Amino acid sequence: MALRFGIIGAGGMGRLHSRNLKRIPDAEVVWVTDVNREVGEKLAGEIECSFVKNWERELDKVDAVVVCTPPFAHFGQIVSSARAGKHIFVEKPLALTMRQADRIVEEVKRNEVQLMVGYVLRFFPAFQAFKEILVSERVGDLVVVWINRMGGLPGAPWLFDPKKSGGMTVEFNTHDVDFLCWLGGKPSAVYGKTLKSRADLGIEDNVWGILTFKKGIGILGSSWSNPLGFSAIGLIGTRGVAIMKEYDKVIVKETEREVEEFPLSKEADPYYEEMFYFLKCIKEGKPVGIDAEVGRLALQVCLSIQRSSQLGRVIRLQE
Ligand SMILES: NC(=O)c1ccc[n+]([C@@H]2O[C@H](COP(=O)([O-])OP(=O)(O)OC[C@H]3O[C@@H](n4cnc5c(N)ncnc54)[C@H](O)[C@@H]3O)[C@@H](O)[C@H]2O)c1
Repeated sequence: MALRFGIIGAGGMGRLHSRNLKRIPDAEVVWVTDVNREVGEKLAGEIECSFVKNWERELDKVDAVVVCTPPFAHFGQIVSSARAGKHIFVEKPLALTMRQADRIVEEVKRNEVQLMVGYVLRFFPAFQAFKEILVSERVGDLVVVWINRMGGLPGAPWLFDPKKSGGMTVEFNTHDVDFLCWLGGKPSAVYGKTLKSRADLGIEDNVWGILTFKKGIGILGSSWSNPLGFSAIGLIGTRGVAIMKEYDKVIVKETEREVEEFPLSKEADPYYEEMFYFLKCIKEGKPVGIDAEVGRLALQVCLSIQRSSQLGRVIRLQE
């Protein structure tokens, strides 16, 4: 039987995920909701499902929801859906505060539903390559892993209100932090610097951070004030190194061996694959892994980067 979905939020990500769900034979989008009726009805028309206004009353018609609203709305929508016994795919970040994240972890557990956070970088071949290179131990233990993602200022108005987005660190760098922790585990300490390139911006638009892991460190460096764009990932291990050349090439150099190109799939469709993975886990009753605890850790690290920058000191994370 097809798994029935409700889409909450019909903007950029709601549109992308509902289109992907339409391509998955075992999935059915039953309804779409949005506070902006026009936007919601338009998407519902495109994917041939119902538009609903009072979505909480329609939860009995679906098995799972896809939460694609701005971050400030995630908490309430996750809690209502979990209490109705629905599985949840939520776009990053999980929530805006640790209190909310703790409540979400509890509600998901208590109501025995699955929650997956949309950490799509884990479905990009280049990012998967770094995980595989580290896990296979071909470059030894982690010494340093770094990630740079830079571009111009995005457009959504809610992004510039820290109460709605959490700022660039919480909204955007959550991806980088999740990637670094996927490789390095939970950091014991975090140091961060967040900066504004323009005094009139409501939020930071440059974020740098250093995470201390049990073995090695993770570094992120990002900007929303670099219209030239720049992306890089690199890994230095005790017995070799790996570097990304554009998003389609990763090269590895093990000590005493020639440089090798790590094969990457050219066919990848990461947003489709993350949704397919979510659906498969639900159907097979397997844990999604990229769950509320993972979202909670990323939030804790992002908030620590912001706090570190405010206080000008290292923030230690409890075990
Ligand atoms: N994984 C990624 O690559 C990626 C990329 C962009 C955005 N995101 C995340 O996806 C989420 C949505 O971002 P977006 O770019 O689609 O934003 P968007 O502004 O394009 O769309 C958000 C939609 O939610 C609606 N909305 C707002 N409050 C609502 C509420 N309380 N109930 C119902 N609808 C509501 C808005 O009317 C809008 O149509 C955010 O959490 C964002 O951080 C993820």
